[in-house]
Amino acid sequence: MSRRAGAGAHRVSTAHLQAAYPFVSEGGLGGRGVYIGRELLGGAFCYDPWDLYAQGTLTNPNMLVAGQVGRGKSSFIKTYLWRQQVFGRHAWIIDPKGEYGPLAAACGVEPVRLGPGLPVRLNPLDTGAWSQALDDVEVTRRHLSLLNSLAAASLGRALTPDEQAACEAAIVTASARADGVLTLPAVVETLLWPDEAAAARIAADVDSLAASGRQVALELRRLCQGDLAGMFDGPTTPGLQLDGPLVVLDLSALYGSPALGLVMLCATAWLQASLVAHADRRLILVIDEAWAILRHLEIARWLQASWKLSRQYGVANVAVIHRLSDLRAAGAEGSEQAALAQGLLADSETRVIYGQSSSETAQARELLGLTDVEAEILPELGRGIALWRVGTRSFLAEHHIGSRERALVDTDARMS
Ligand SMILES: Nc1ncnc2c1ncn2[C@@H]1O[C@H](COP(=O)(O)OP(=O)(O)OP(=O)(O)O)[C@@H](O)[C@H]1O
Ligand SMILES: [Mg+2]
Repeated sequence: MSRRAGAGAHRVSTAHLQAAYPFVSEGGLGGRGVYIGRELLGGAFCYDPWDLYAQGTLTNPNMLVAGQVGRGKSSFIKTYLWRQQVFGRHAWIIDPKGEYGPLAAACGVEPVRLGPGLPVRLNPLDTGAWSQALDDVEVTRRHLSLLNSLAAASLGRALTPDEQAACEAAIVTASARADGVLTLPAVVETLLWPDEAAAARIAADVDSLAASGRQVALELRRLCQGDLAGMFDGPTTPGLQLDGPLVVLDLSALYGSPALGLVMLCATAWLQASLVAHADRRLILVIDEAWAILRHLEIARWLQASWKLSRQYGVANVAVIHRLSDLRAAGAEGSEQAALAQGLLADSETRVIYGQSSSETAQARELLGLTDVEAEILPELGRGIALWRVGTRSFLAEHHIGSRERALVDTDARMS
């Protein structure tokens, strides 16, 4: 069997990979979990993060999927989620390209489409589910962390201590006024027009507090206007169903927009906050095209923190990127970049690495701790074949798509 390794790459057969790299792949993870495909040196390759966690092979259930365009990352995710349905697992998906519709249809659900002029609104500051589980201090801390990331990513710089204090004051004041449902416009208004009590709490006067919060307020205001108006600027549209086997948030209306990263952050934050009320289930939370949020330093930090928090709810997070260097968010200094990448990798102990360009292999080797042989193999992997690093173990697996699953994955057909 041979595979086209993608534009510019050479053809590599699976037989060649087997012959050339016999020592890369171990004997599989056992038969438990969902079927992924064929382990190149052995039989069926199966995987289940919760099972491996329970066995002690993994210390976290999160997964990072990396690979060049068109290597089969999303196809793998779609069939993986479809096969996990058999085990009663649920999945929530951030879908920036709008390609999970066929999977949703197969699961009997409709994607939730977000975009300019569309009727659905998500409130990223929704606290509905949190209010039973968390105290006020923790809720404020989470709101602050989200606002901080949104504003910093939008401003392209970290917030100053004065700006952070202004945000915190605004959250506390707006929450007290809002009767439970905090919204972005309410925060913006309170930032622009703080009251005496908020100023007194941080030994400031009203004018200086307003001045401190002004730039942040104007940035956050942009999330409530123009293209993004109606998407995140008020209470969540009633009646959105999170109970079904699958929830797809289709953000394709904003794919290609400079605001995509912010939109993905708001949508992810809304899903994360909803986890509290769904802690009774095994849930996979996928962020496809996650490179779009990882390029913002503040959002990458938020994502890492939120992965840590979601562990207590038993969630298996999955992030899809193109190359390992996507983990090194723009804007960070060298050592901070490295720390962030290491942190995100440490929090995703399953790494599924599809074909990488030769220029990426050094980074991949360094970040993933690959052997020379494993790194060397990455540019040779054809479509559908990935190096799996599961904890400290390595496997070469070819993802199998069943004939009935074809309709779930065919993005080439849509392209033509
Ligand atoms: N294991 C496989 N075997 C055969 N064909 C595959 C396999 N995986 C993916 N394909 C085909 O390759 C095409 C591209 O796959 P997919 O959209 O999953 O790539 P991707 O890595 O997610 O790309 P992108 O980075 O653009 O999102 C799909 O149309 C799919 O049918
Ligand atoms: Mg994809």
